[in-house]
Amino acid sequence: MAKGGWRSLLLSARTVSMGSRRAFARLLFLLLSTSGFFQSYAVEVDVKDGANATCLYANWMMRFLITYETNSSDYRNTTLNLSSNVTHDGSVCGNDTQAALLAVQFGEGHSWSVNFTKTNETYQGDFITFTYNTNDTTVFPDAKRKGPVTIVVRDTMQPVQLNNVFVCHNADFLETESVTQIFWNVTVQAFVQNGTIGKKESRCRADTPTSAPTVPPTIANVTTASPTTASPAPTTAPKPVENPETGNYSLKSGNKTCLLANVGLQLNVSQDKPLLVNINPKTTSADGACGNTTAILKLNDRNSTLIGFTFVVKNVSTTAQKFYLKEVNVTLLNRLNGSVISNADNSNFSKWDAFLGTSYMCQKEQTLEISDSIQIHTFNLWIQPFLVEENKFSTAQECSLDDDDILIPIVVGAALAGLIAIIVLAYIIGRRKSYAGYQTL
Ligand SMILES: *[C@@H]1O[C@H](CO)[C@@H](O)[C@H](O)[C@H]1NC(C)=O
Ligand SMILES: *[C@@H]1O[C@H](CO)[C@@H](O)[C@H](O)[C@H]1NC(C)=O
Ligand SMILES: *[C@@H]1O[C@H](CO)[C@@H](O)[C@H](O)[C@H]1NC(C)=O
Ligand SMILES: *[C@@H]1O[C@H](CO)[C@@H](O)[C@H](O)[C@H]1NC(C)=O
Ligand SMILES: *[C@@H]1O[C@H](CO)[C@@H](O)[C@H](O)[C@H]1NC(C)=O
Ligand SMILES: *[C@@H]1O[C@H](CO)[C@@H](O)[C@H](O)[C@H]1NC(C)=O
Ligand SMILES: *[C@@H]1O[C@H](CO)[C@@H](O)[C@H](O)[C@H]1NC(C)=O
Ligand SMILES: *[C@@H]1O[C@H](CO)[C@@H](O)[C@H](O)[C@H]1NC(C)=O
Ligand SMILES: *[C@@H]1O[C@H](CO)[C@@H](O)[C@H](O)[C@H]1NC(C)=O
Ligand SMILES: *[C@@H]1O[C@H](CO)[C@@H](O)[C@H](O)[C@H]1NC(C)=O
Ligand SMILES: *[C@@H]1O[C@H](CO)[C@@H](O)[C@H](O)[C@H]1NC(C)=O
Ligand SMILES: *[C@@H]1O[C@H](CO)[C@@H](O)[C@H](O)[C@H]1NC(C)=O
Repeated sequence: MAKGGWRSLLLSARTVSMGSRRAFARLLFLLLSTSGFFQSYAVEVDVKDGANATCLYANWMMRFLITYETNSSDYRNTTLNLSSNVTHDGSVCGNDTQAALLAVQFGEGHSWSVNFTKTNETYQGDFITFTYNTNDTTVFPDAKRKGPVTIVVRDTMQPVQLNNVFVCHNADFLETESVTQIFWNVTVQAFVQNGTIGKKESRCRADTPTSAPTVPPTIANVTTASPTTASPAPTTAPKPVENPETGNYSLKSGNKTCLLANVGLQLNVSQDKPLLVNINPKTTSADGACGNTTAILKLNDRNSTLIGFTFVVKNVSTTAQKFYLKEVNVTLLNRLNGSVISNADNSNFSKWDAFLGTSYMCQKEQTLEISDSIQIHTFNLWIQPFLVEENKFSTAQECSLDDDDILIPIVVGAALAGLIAIIVLAYIIGRRKSYAGYQTL
């Protein structure tokens, strides 16, 4: 277990039974209303160093939703809960050079661990390693492959001030292809100094009043949750959200890239309060269809946020064709049962246009109004939905750096042209009329 001689670990732990069993569907619903977990155990781990002082402390609840393949080759979803039987072998205090490790084993061959790293001022979860054993026939009946399966996923916990204890009562979800890990009622502190748990709490963002009132928040069913943030005391203004990361998405037709899209996306969902949600390129997959005159790009962030872009081609003259963005739809899904929380569509766009065979670029922030309550902000956009050659963008047509500056001359010019046309027309009609009048006389 411990490598260093100075650190002999004394682990004390207990498990606490929580509530009774109820229907799975009910659970899924209540997961999102921040309370009501059943047949779950809180785990408490208190790791001590050689001086018998606490160096790593954690108390939390977790559960796992796992998809596995059965003997009949279909896929089944199951729930793995902590048993009353939890051990903590392998947990490590950690120091400046070695990561701390919180490790638990439970049930028939399942285990879970997270390691923590520290800097001068903060500590932070690094990777979560989860092993489930499909030999456990009560959890994985009829599993095709029997034996341990391990997944490693980066922890989403944000850095926490050293000597602060991290607390998050709201549920946090960590999703990978076949496993969703759910954590709640989390209290954790790594690199505890002088054996004393910090008196100051770092609360996750989901717990802070700006985003989570004491009653189940109405926006909780939309939040795609990146809650484990060491939030400072809540401020009165809504929390400024960082600009989204730019994603590089592409579609293929056969083995040829047929659509390219680089873009940072941020959803602005207003229910009771505006809520900004960044699309995370790392958890977003691209899908869709390329065509000669219509192309569709569908982005899916963790089965909870779906955005579809439809591009079409129009003739602007007998020889020239342009593409443009015609339609955008947004669907927000309940991540666990797939039910639709919200859906919005606007098929009347005429944006992002460029000549066919070129690409369209716009670095600055743009806003797409999908509905009264949903907008999309785009950043660092570079898109080519048609005629992609050799996996590369063609020449870009940029949005003007300042639309207004160019728009005004265009509007003024158009107005002047219109005025001239009217004058000419009036003149011609006038002449005709007077000519006609002259004739009848
Ligand atoms: C940290 O722990 C490792 C492994 O136990 C040990 O070798 C190292 O000396 C420790 N470093 C410090 C600064 O205590
Ligand atoms: C979370 O913990 C608090 C007290 O620590 C407890 O009252 C509450 O019931 C717990 N929530 C759940 C969902 O277990
Ligand atoms: C650590 O503390 C526990 C009880 O608090 C005690 O039983 C144990 O002997 C102590 N161990 C050492 C090495 O001091
Ligand atoms: C399992 O859950 C996923 C979503 O988490 C869902 O897409 C899938 O349809 C479910 N499968 C079954 C067999 O219920
Ligand atoms: C408790 O854990 C041990 C070893 O980890 C295992 O052999 C045993 O079956 C478990 N008991 C229960 C009731 O899960
Ligand atoms: C660590 O602390 C030292 C001195 O307090 C400082 O110079 C250094 O920049 C800090 N390093 C980090 C990564 O914060
Ligand atoms: C944490 O654990 C992961 C997975 O085992 C490992 O890849 C990573 O290097 C560890 N981090 C540190 C700082 O040791
Ligand atoms: C799981 O089951 C397989 C076959 O039944 C067996 O070979 C293997 O040793 C088992 N593994 C564990 C960890 O029980
Ligand atoms: C830990 O103890 C040392 C010496 O007793 C003291 O200087 C330091 O401030 C203490 N740190 C905390 C976080 O209490
Ligand atoms: C989501 O929140 C909205 C607005 O508060 C509410 O009308 C809707 O019923 C909620 N949906 C779910 C699935 O909880
Ligand atoms: C895929 O690419 C390979 C060469 O990279 C080529 O030989 C093959 O014909 C391509 N297949 C299709 C369906 O275009
Ligand atoms: C699309 O364009 C390609 C190449 O110009 C052509 O071969 C194909 O028939 C067109 N497909 C349709 C459905 O028009």
